[in-house]
Amino acid sequence: ALERTFSMLKPDAVKAAHIGDIYQQIEATGLKIVAVKMLQLSREQAEGFYAEHHGKSFYEPLIAFMTEGPIMVQVLEGEHAIETYRNLMGATDPSQAAPNTLRANYGSGMPANATHGSDSPESASREIAFFFSDDEICG
Ligand code: CMP
Repeated sequence: ALERTFSMLKPDAVKAAHIGDIYQQIEATGLKIVAVKMLQLSREQAEGFYAEHHGKSFYEPLIAFMTEGPIMVQVLEGEHAIETYRNLMGATDPSQAAPNTLRANYGSGMPANATHGSDSPESASREIAFFFSDDEICG
């Protein structure tokens, strides 16, 4: 079934000018980019997006990193979009990510792992709605 997932290019990937390369690799999987936005997260937005990690040891460095510079957010659509995009990203920690995945190629460590993607249909719905209204998605 057609599925949507949420994708984010983090401040490290945007700063290093990898937007075009990453979009090319997303499109090469067959997934369609159906919504896009560039924005600078406020501290409040970053805390809201990563609320589930509040209290963890990496929470403060994560929020500091995520508010360091502009990000790109995308909605991706296609068959098995969530799994397809997670496979393209590779493991969360770039040092553990399979060769030629986005995190292996563009991430430099933790939390600077270049990209984020939804891990379930529930998080995809929540994360898409966090950044996009229905009329901003060209499905
Ligand atoms: P992401 O997929 O966006 O989900 C939560 C983020 O927190 C993760 O990518 C990393 O950027 C960061 N993160 C997760 N675990 C750690 C960790 N152990 N140390 C530092 N950062 C982490």
